[in-house]
Amino acid sequence: MIKLDANENPYRPPEELCRRLGEFSRRLDYNRYPDKTYSDLRKALAGYCGWPADLIMAGNGSDELILLLLLAYGGPYSRMITVQPTFTMYAHYARATGTPAVEKTYRLEGSAGELKYPRQEIMAEAEKDQPGIIFLCSPNNPTGELRARSWLEKLLDRTELPVVVDEAYYEFSGETFIDLLEKYENLIILRTLSKAFGLAGLRVGYMLSSPAVYRKLEELRSPYNISRYSAGAAGILLKAREYYQNSWKKIMSGREFLYRGLSELAGLTVFPSRGNYLLLQTEVKSPAKVYQELLERGVRIRYWDDLALFGQALRVSAGRREENELFLSELTEVLKEV
Ligand SMILES: Cc1ncc(COP(=O)(O)O)c(C=O)c1O
Repeated sequence: MIKLDANENPYRPPEELCRRLGEFSRRLDYNRYPDKTYSDLRKALAGYCGWPADLIMAGNGSDELILLLLLAYGGPYSRMITVQPTFTMYAHYARATGTPAVEKTYRLEGSAGELKYPRQEIMAEAEKDQPGIIFLCSPNNPTGELRARSWLEKLLDRTELPVVVDEAYYEFSGETFIDLLEKYENLIILRTLSKAFGLAGLRVGYMLSSPAVYRKLEELRSPYNISRYSAGAAGILLKAREYYQNSWKKIMSGREFLYRGLSELAGLTVFPSRGNYLLLQTEVKSPAKVYQELLERGVRIRYWDDLALFGQALRVSAGRREENELFLSELTEVLKEV
């Protein structure tokens, strides 16, 4: 099965890194609890992203940090403001914490069906004199575009609500808002090692924020929220910067290869993306059928039957070269059999 459904890094770490992880695992004090301040991991993350270690919180995947943020700033008398479609866990944890969700939908404009972010609607919600928390995703999953810097600055100038920018795919887009953290205390940046660093299986995400936000979440965080092994492995992988930078280049050229190939296929719309994935709409055959037939041919991509704005939709993650080629050739066959 070729797995192109979860925006993972398609490469396992190289042998040398696996050997170091194995050695680390052999020496590990499994019987001891982790250091609850995760100081080594936070130092490694500080070195990687240039934000002070004492303002970086690590989570059991960034999913855990989304939950903590909604526990801290959500609840029945607050609001979770976001767009649709976007990463599903914002709405999931809003439901779990009893937080009403205010969701503004993208628009499709023009004959080419260009995606338009509901900027004004989000701004208007942010300016209301009501508590809440805003979730933005840049690049957005699954649509792939970045938030505009000038708009984000305007938003931060006009609201005191916490504004979370989820940069889970930062390494693929190369665009970050970290530099705005100094100026805006209500800006919160979420990142993860699940995507670019290929560590989805070990669950390590992190949050960069002001001291006030950090303190509030620290009151809620479980002291041993990440395993000793995951924290140590993350530190080892973060040092292998050159290897990962090369792997991101390969993934990005895979995404461009897929974009070009998909753009040439009749009966298909593909949206440009700054992440390691592409959102697809099929015109003649239903996305459900395309998904099912690809699955029967051994290729798994992501399928939604109720994605906001689109209804049924598909998303493919950039894989290894041979996986991308196989996906394209299978999809070409599937689309021909109408
Ligand atoms: C935008 C976004 N944020 C966060 C995550 C989850 O990351 P983690 O594996 O760190 O929980 C994902 C995973 O798909 C994502 O797409």
